[in-house]
Amino acid sequence: MEQKRIAAIVGSLRKDSFNRQLALAAKEAIGDRAIFEIIDFSDVPMMNQDIEYPAPESVRRVREQIKIADGVWIFSPEYNHSYPGLLKNLIDWLSRPISKEERQVLSKKPIAISGASNGMGGTVTAQDLLVMLLSMLNARVMNFPRLRVPNAQEQTDEEGHLKLTTSLPYLQKQADAFLKFIGE
Ligand SMILES: Cc1cc2nc3c(=O)[nH]c(=O)nc-3n(C[C@H](O)[C@H](O)[C@H](O)COP(=O)(O)O)c2cc1C
Repeated sequence: MEQKRIAAIVGSLRKDSFNRQLALAAKEAIGDRAIFEIIDFSDVPMMNQDIEYPAPESVRRVREQIKIADGVWIFSPEYNHSYPGLLKNLIDWLSRPISKEERQVLSKKPIAISGASNGMGGTVTAQDLLVMLLSMLNARVMNFPRLRVPNAQEQTDEEGHLKLTTSLPYLQKQADAFLKFIGE
């Protein structure tokens, strides 16, 4: 049987992003049970219908990566109790049909959601809003478990690297659940 493929989307461009580190920890938790690839979408422009067709090369590349993935795992911070604008911009691009014949790539796509933040809520409000957005796009969101990592800066080592001192077992559970969810 062909190996499953997970495309990871990180909603932060920050070099030392906790959410990027969370994605790397998830990659480890998945191990060799699936191909796990963090998608680089830093070159995707702001949505502008003037440049929508033909889609910019960066958009075509990301759409293809999502299309061939068996599941998409989103790791996102919370900005002002919502998901960051860059994530909304990416989803706006992904929400549009590729062509008259081909529907948008998030339809029916299995999606897992995780997030780390410095606040006590651990991105819960942003995640709820993301679920609302993804439902509208007919994605197949795994509503349980969703991982929230609160007080991320307190779960680090001396160098400030995310250690997930209390959250790691929950990440492992989510990885197991998502592999099962994808396979269903
Ligand atoms: C514009 C902005 C708004 C933020 N709003 C929130 C918020 O609503 N809730 C929260 O817990 N943290 C908030 N934070 C703090 C983030 O949790 C923190 O910067 C976190 O490290 C961002 O994730 P990253 O490390 O992956 O970049 C905000 C940060 C920024 C830059």
